[in-house]
Amino acid sequence: MSQSLNFHVTRSDRPRSAEERARILEKPGFGVHFTDHMVAVRWDKDGGWHDAEVRPYGPIALDPAAAVLHYGQEIFEGIKAYRHADGSVWTFRPDANGRRLQRSAARLALPQLPVEVFVESLKQMIAVDKDWVSDAEEASLYFRPFMIGDEAFLGVRGAHQASYYVIASPAGPYFAKGVAPVAIWLSTDFARAAKGGTGAAKCGGNYAASLLPQQQAQAQGCSQVLFLDPVEGRYLEELGGMNVFLVYGKRNTLVTPALSGSILEGITRESILQLARDRGMTVEERQVTIDEWKQGVASGDITEVFACGTAAVITPIGQLKGEGFSVGDLEAPAGEVTLSLRRELTDIQYGRLPDRHGWMLRLDA
Ligand code: PLP
Ligand code: COI
Repeated sequence: MSQSLNFHVTRSDRPRSAEERARILEKPGFGVHFTDHMVAVRWDKDGGWHDAEVRPYGPIALDPAAAVLHYGQEIFEGIKAYRHADGSVWTFRPDANGRRLQRSAARLALPQLPVEVFVESLKQMIAVDKDWVSDAEEASLYFRPFMIGDEAFLGVRGAHQASYYVIASPAGPYFAKGVAPVAIWLSTDFARAAKGGTGAAKCGGNYAASLLPQQQAQAQGCSQVLFLDPVEGRYLEELGGMNVFLVYGKRNTLVTPALSGSILEGITRESILQLARDRGMTVEERQVTIDEWKQGVASGDITEVFACGTAAVITPIGQLKGEGFSVGDLEAPAGEVTLSLRRELTDIQYGRLPDRHGWMLRLDA
């Protein structure tokens, strides 16, 4: 099968005015506004990928019997475009997201989108919606590529028809308070993923399962929920939408839960591990119990904790709360390892530091 597709472009005849766009970009929030265009690519079992297009942003027509509406056959990605000081527009490790989309597709019995088409789909979006990439500090354009099984058939099997889409949303900080430390809630009633389940895939169903515990977290004044392993309920896995790191300051060590098969293989996580190794820190990917966290914070061995992901970048965790306990101090300032890793990562993404690992790809050339 050919690894490239020609995109047919239909420009919106009602794009937002420059004034309206500027008003949105001034205070974009996260995931509330969308650009003027979207990408759509069709797939079917006999013909493979075809009918690639860029078209005006708008509703998708689905047959009421479409697989995604009944059996949740959906996967997605999250990846950002960053504007550099010279006006050029770049993205971060798109091949890694493209490969993860393929792994998610394999798990959800969806077709493999060639990584070249994934990368091209982002370039196509920038070709029409580049003006939506803000030059404000820490602003970005968040792409949401996703794929659905949309064959109209109620038998339970992988759909023989699917569609891939990309939409884009101008993004400020994911958390309302920006880089300020957040509180997180330990869920002991619910697991996010099961052994042999879909935890390592980026599929909508995982997030559906996290919404009730996320509501409980919010009811406790916390911004995210922390899940433990689904078998013993002792080991840290991840947050509803982010990976988690512990900093042992005195040992110059960074610890994160090992990929267990039920954790999402975060691209930010992997990049932070690399940056930490580069600066001579010891990195440990291993099992971490919840007691290690509680005791380490109490003893002062764990000096910082942070969450990371494309949307969250690196966000300090000030406090961990759960049924009958609380550790950490939400009022304490963010730790210096957290802030310096965040600065280094964002300096690479915004072109302020050399890209020594070849992570950046220009989208507008
Ligand atoms: N874990 C979950 C459940 C996520 O939704 C995300 C966000 O994408 C991550 C981790 C972090 O992944 P990445 O760094 O690739 O964005
Ligand atoms: C991301 O960071 O890209 C995510 O997908 C996390 C969340 C917003 C769902």
